[in-house]
Amino acid sequence: MPLERTLSMIKPDAVSKQLTGTILQRFESAKFTIVAAKMMQLTKEQAEGFYAEHEGREFYEPLVEFMTSGPTMLLVLQGENIIPAYRELIGKTDPTQAAPGTIRADFAESTRYNAVHGSDSPESAAREIAYFFVDDEICAPAVS
Ligand code: TYD
Ligand code: MG
Repeated sequence: MPLERTLSMIKPDAVSKQLTGTILQRFESAKFTIVAAKMMQLTKEQAEGFYAEHEGREFYEPLVEFMTSGPTMLLVLQGENIIPAYRELIGKTDPTQAAPGTIRADFAESTRYNAVHGSDSPESAAREIAYFFVDDEICAPAVS
């Protein structure tokens, strides 16, 4: 199985509910290694660029507004096959569709206020990690 990295975000809803520690514990219980982390309140430009693939969808503007509404925790997580494994751990985008015991089933309020982000493919993981982190901020040897 490939050693991979994924870009994780603990979104403003979960940070403001003081769920950061609880969610980090879920990541570590899943044996994901935290190789980079920082708090940031995204600017409108940062949030728009991050979610550019959704530009024009009806939820895009409210999504950008929500994502800039308070601090977010940005993380790079590393592990075997982590891109799909992490998506499994967080559950489906809509928490009413998310499997019991997933982070979104347990902590998301709605599709918009859904607690966490995770990259959906190796290509998006590479883009999203580089969007927020420089190599020096990642505390692990490069993965191929
Ligand atoms: P998407 O990339 O489809 O979901 P995921 O976060 O699971 O990769 O959408 C990005 C975010 O946009 C999603 O986490 C929440 C928001 N969103 C809505 O508010 N309404 C929607 O109908 C969809 C599809 C997404
Ligand atoms: Mg997505």
